[in-house]
Amino acid sequence: MRINNAASISDLRELARGRLPRFAFDMLDGGAEDESNLRQNVEALESIKLIPRYFVDVSKLAAETEIFGRRYALPFGIAPVGMLNLFWPGTDLALARLAARENIMLGVSAAASTELEAVAEAAEGRAWFQLYVSGDSTLTDRLLARARSASYEVLLVTVDCPVPGKRDRDIRNGLQLPFRITPRIFGDLVTHPRWSLATRAAGKPVAANYKDVLASARSLAELQTTIISNTLMWDDLERLRGKWQGKLLVKGILHPEDARRCVQLGCDGLVISNHGGRQAGYGPASIEALPAIAEAVNGAVPLGIDSGVRRGADVIRAKALGADFALLGRAFGYGAGAGGTEGCQRAFDIVRMELLRALGQLGQPSFADVDRSLLATQDSGWF
Ligand code: FNR
Repeated sequence: MRINNAASISDLRELARGRLPRFAFDMLDGGAEDESNLRQNVEALESIKLIPRYFVDVSKLAAETEIFGRRYALPFGIAPVGMLNLFWPGTDLALARLAARENIMLGVSAAASTELEAVAEAAEGRAWFQLYVSGDSTLTDRLLARARSASYEVLLVTVDCPVPGKRDRDIRNGLQLPFRITPRIFGDLVTHPRWSLATRAAGKPVAANYKDVLASARSLAELQTTIISNTLMWDDLERLRGKWQGKLLVKGILHPEDARRCVQLGCDGLVISNHGGRQAGYGPASIEALPAIAEAVNGAVPLGIDSGVRRGADVIRAKALGADFALLGRAFGYGAGAGGTEGCQRAFDIVRMELLRALGQLGQPSFADVDRSLLATQDSGWF
C-alpha cells in the first residue's frame, strides 16, 4: 500500500509497522501491561451510537472551533508526544508546520526531540507547551521561562505520570535508558535499513529540552523523578497557576472531583486523558470518564479529550458527550512512521475528511451545535 491509498488511521498504522524497527513501533503502539485500557479507549468510542437527522441543509459544513480566543480550523489537534523523531526524522517540525498550515492546535511535549523554541516558531502561534512538573523546581522554572520567552500562550500540565507506566512490550524489546544497542535491537535495525539510515543521518533522537539533565543523571530512577515529580500536590498546582500568566490546562484528569478542584484553583481548561492507555492497565477509557466530568465542570472551562481517537466520528462522539475538542497522539505518530511529512499530512486529511463527512451524514451542519440529542441512549429508548 502507498501512502495515498491509506484510507484510515489503521492503514497508516499497518504501513508504520512495516517501516519502523519493532522497538520503535512498539514504543508508539503499545500500552500499559496487558493493554486492556488501550483497547478500551477505542472500543468505548466505537460503542457510542449517533443517530442521523435528515431534512437538514448540509451543503455547507462548519467545524471551526474557538478556544481561548483563537479560531482553529477544526475541533481536533495534535496531542503532545515525546521523542516523535524516533518515528521518522523531522517529525516534530513536520507536525508544527502542519499545525500552522492547517490552523490546528499542537501539543508540544516537554520530552520532544526538538527544542521547544524551534517547534513554537514553526507552529506560528498554534503550539501549546506540555509541561511535566519536575522533582527539581529549578528545572520546572527553567522550562516555564523558556516557554514564556518562546511566546507559548497555553500550558498543558500533564499530571497522569506520578509513577512511570509499565509497558510490557518495551520491557520485552529490551528498551532501557541510556539507550543501548542489544543484539535484539541490532537485528531490528539491520532489518529496517531505510529507517536506520535516515535516523543515523539525522542524528540519534534525544529529549532535546532535557539535554543537561540527561547528561548529569546518575541512575534511571533519579532521572525519572527529576523529570517528573512523584510528589505533585494541589498547592504545587496552585503555585504553578500563580506563576504562569497564560492559559493553563491540566491534562490527564479522569475523576470529577479532581476536575472540580482544578477549576476552583483557577485552571482554564482540562484534557480528559488516560495517556492513551500507556500509564495504567486498568481504569476507564477517557470517553467513559467524560460525562461525569462534564457534569461536574458544568461549562465553566473548555474540555478537551484524548485517548483512542482514530476516526473523525470519534470527535463528534466526544462533543455529544460534552467535550469541546479532541487531541490525537498515535494517529499522527502512525502517519509519521508510515511516510514522514507526507504521512502526517495524510493522517490529518483522513480525520478531517471523516469528520466533515460524518457531520453531513448526521445532519449537523455546524460542529458547534452537536449535543446529546445525537446519542442513541437508553433514555431515548434505544436499548
Ligand atoms: C504520549 N503522550 C504524552 N503525553 C504527554 O503529556 N507528554 C508526553 O511526552 C507524551 N508522550 C507520548 C509518547 C507516545 C509515543 C505516545 C503514544 C503518547 C500521550 C499523548 O499526549 C496522548 O495523551 C495520547 O497519545 C492519546 O491517545 P492516542 O490518541 O494515542 O490513543
